[in-house]
Amino acid sequence: MLPLIAERKSVFPQFFTGRLIDRQVLEELVAAANQAPSHRKTEPWRFRIYQGAGKQRLVDELLAVYGRDQPDADKIAKKFGGKIDSSGAVVLIFLHRDPQESVPEWEEIAAVGAAVENLWLSLSAYDLGGYWSSPGFVCGDYGEWPGAAKNERCLGMFYLGYYEAPELPRPRGDWREKVEWIGKGS
Ligand SMILES: Cc1cc2nc3c(=O)[nH]c(=O)nc-3n(C[C@H](O)[C@H](O)[C@H](O)COP(=O)(O)O)c2cc1C
Repeated sequence: MLPLIAERKSVFPQFFTGRLIDRQVLEELVAAANQAPSHRKTEPWRFRIYQGAGKQRLVDELLAVYGRDQPDADKIAKKFGGKIDSSGAVVLIFLHRDPQESVPEWEEIAAVGAAVENLWLSLSAYDLGGYWSSPGFVCGDYGEWPGAAKNERCLGMFYLGYYEAPELPRPRGDWREKVEWIGKGS
């Protein structure tokens, strides 16, 4: 297995150092994401990247989506505000549905997943860590996210940061139990 794949991991914001991330590095990550495959080349991935003072805007948007009048809105602001604040940058992930719907939605969601995996695999080249977070209220309907087009829906956020974290075990079930062999090769 490629070491890059074996070593990819989720790194959570409590381990982030607070160091800022250069714009050029973020651009490289998006360029890697953009190399993902997509059926009919619809390239349905879109990203919004929040850094510095922009991070407060993400908290505001999250609260708008959650509902400022909800009784636990303060708790939500604190919980997500803390993670956002610890991050060097947060990438909000969007599905940009092909306006012609020339492919089924699942194919475009899968393509966004491939794009995010490209970004994820690229992190080690820059000593960055992060993870995809998909709270239910964040991943709502088309047009629901503030400023999203009517054919765009949020598929979560990717917290990014330089980090100091212990190596944690990342066990997987046995791949042999996940494959069925039909016929025989060499
Ligand atoms: C589509 C997707 C959504 C995810 N959402 C969350 C999430 O909301 N919260 C979370 O803690 N981890 C989330 N994760 C990260 C997984 O928890 C993590 O990838 C898994 O535990 C395996 O750990 P590893 O990435 O270190 O191999 C998500 C991963 C994917 C692919």
